[in-house]
Amino acid sequence: MAESSENPGTFYVSTPIYYVNDVPHIGHAYTTIIADALARFQKLRGKEIFFLTGTDEHGQKIEKAAAEKGLTPIELADKVVGRILDLWKDLNIEYDFFIRTTMDFHERGVQQLFQRLLDKGDIYKGTYKGWYCVSEENFLADDIPLEPDGTKVCPDCGRKAGVVSEESYFFRLSAYQQPLLDYYAANPSFVRPPSRMNEVSSFVRQGLKDLSITRTTVKWGIPVPGDPKHTIYVWFDALNNYLTGIGYGWKAELCGKFWPADIHLIGKDILRFHAVFWPAFLMAGGFPLPKCVFGHGWWLKDEAKMSKSKGNVLDPYQILNAFGPDALRYFLLREVPIGLDGNFSHEGFVNRVNSDLANDFGNLVQRTLTMIRSYFGGTIGECGAEAEEDAKLRAEFGTLKERVFTLYDEYAINKALEEIWAYLNAVNKYLAGREPWKIAKDPAQRPRLARILCQAAAAIRGISYLLYPVMPTTADKVWDFLGEKKLLYCVRYQDLAFEGFKPTQEIKEPHPLFPRVALKDFLGEDPPRIETAKAQPKAAPAPQKETHMDQISYEEFMKMDFKVAKILKAERVAGANKLLKLEIDLGTEKRQMVAGVAETYASEDLLGKSLIVIANLKPAMIRGVESQAMLLAAVSPDGKAIIPFFDREVAPGTKVK
Ligand code: MSP
Repeated sequence: MAESSENPGTFYVSTPIYYVNDVPHIGHAYTTIIADALARFQKLRGKEIFFLTGTDEHGQKIEKAAAEKGLTPIELADKVVGRILDLWKDLNIEYDFFIRTTMDFHERGVQQLFQRLLDKGDIYKGTYKGWYCVSEENFLADDIPLEPDGTKVCPDCGRKAGVVSEESYFFRLSAYQQPLLDYYAANPSFVRPPSRMNEVSSFVRQGLKDLSITRTTVKWGIPVPGDPKHTIYVWFDALNNYLTGIGYGWKAELCGKFWPADIHLIGKDILRFHAVFWPAFLMAGGFPLPKCVFGHGWWLKDEAKMSKSKGNVLDPYQILNAFGPDALRYFLLREVPIGLDGNFSHEGFVNRVNSDLANDFGNLVQRTLTMIRSYFGGTIGECGAEAEEDAKLRAEFGTLKERVFTLYDEYAINKALEEIWAYLNAVNKYLAGREPWKIAKDPAQRPRLARILCQAAAAIRGISYLLYPVMPTTADKVWDFLGEKKLLYCVRYQDLAFEGFKPTQEIKEPHPLFPRVALKDFLGEDPPRIETAKAQPKAAPAPQKETHMDQISYEEFMKMDFKVAKILKAERVAGANKLLKLEIDLGTEKRQMVAGVAETYASEDLLGKSLIVIANLKPAMIRGVESQAMLLAAVSPDGKAIIPFFDREVAPGTKVK
């Protein structure tokens, strides 16, 4: 449908559905983060979004993994799904539907699609004999040579394949060789990036054989309609999620509205399934094809593919706990174009985050807003006329906005971020060159000072909207500091303008957006205040040792700003048993903090209570929430926190010494 300002249209984006044999790692998070960023961008464009993700739960791989763990396949699936849902929540992934291939509407939908192709003659019964890799759930190509011991090794995972010989239903893939080639020729951007289109078309040109799409040896799968000793091949089952997940077979109007998908995001390893088999199934079923299959690169660790056996799998929580979701989202999307492989190094991560986020962006926000508060009490008010340099900053935002839209539209997210950073640095230069802190000393220059700070705040606001797809949590914080109205999607990108910032807006006290974390802290030599993501095995409580602490001077003690805080709100931190998020009143300001007291206190026990906090401890990210103070509590031998409360009323903010 053509875009118009009245109806910008729809946008349907999907991730692969993840296997449930193991917990997700950074590679899985990557695809989902890309999809989330694209969905959020299109949402701010005003499009109606459908963002589908989910899990691939049938097949021999899952059957085997469950048996090894002493679980039934569905028990294993339920456990892993819980972990995946937690991770998506902690990464701030805003999907519309999470499909599980064990959901009954999906199973029915797959059977209907199977039947449709059977009725048409595109599925027929025969006998299959060949080499099959359980780990990849894939048949080996005929040209793979035999090993000296007479077996074959899977070229994708290096594991031994087994011989399968059984009655099977086949999909007439050979009949779709020419239609696929014609389709690729007519739609060169169906597979992206272009290098992957070449890969796919040369594979298809070599010839396509019919595909066995059922098993009699696998019990954990969807039964073939009318012939239940066969189960449907896990890839036929899984690929159809893209239709059943938007209502095929159960909600026709949804399906009609969103199909064909705008983009299937996948890793390059599963390109053939999505760019050859899937379009052939769809052609056979008489469905239009998705507009784009985008094969992204891999995240490698130490230049190697992550795998459990190599011990190089990156746990997203190691980063999430220390830095929160946006630093990880930013790094993965900024570091490499999404078509290429990236090599993850902790050092590279920490450097990029400290330099781009803490220094360039975090400091700009902190400095600008603090100046507005201290020079203007929070509201700039009347500004002096726009000088040439001010107009330049404004005009540059207009062109930046257009370039960034185009780049997001073309899935060039890393380039969009590069452009935003170039502008951000220009804003930093603008401020450094104008030296508002000097101008502030001269009362006659107040209108000029107001103009400079207004331009900087307007630029920050504009940048925050452009960054929103990649860093939604941060954008939300900036909007809060700026006193933006919290109608999240009210500022459509079309309406985003530099002038959208009004000097009458009341600026709230900013808090550091990205606390700097040193590499050694991150890697654990001297662990920062981080709550571990998942429960650690519990050791018996250690007998309390007499600990000898160094003496400190009175001056050193006085550096610590202990204050009385009154608890205004308390709620549990999702997914963390020990943590409560508290909103506290410190007399002159309110703050939020995270405290490890949930094992001893329920939220309602704490409401209205006053306690002691240290108010000038550096903020820390705990489970993705910024903690802006720390409370004092005794720690009992079994590790529980016991808070000393006051025995009479004390005003919030009262100094404790
Ligand atoms: N279940 C199939 C997909 C079926 S879609 C109809 C599957 N699942 S998977 O869990 O093994 O992988 C899901 C996605 O994660 C794939 O796109 C894969 O490329 C991606 N990644 C797994 N490891 C990765 C990296 N190290 N880096 C980037 N992405 C990687 O395949």
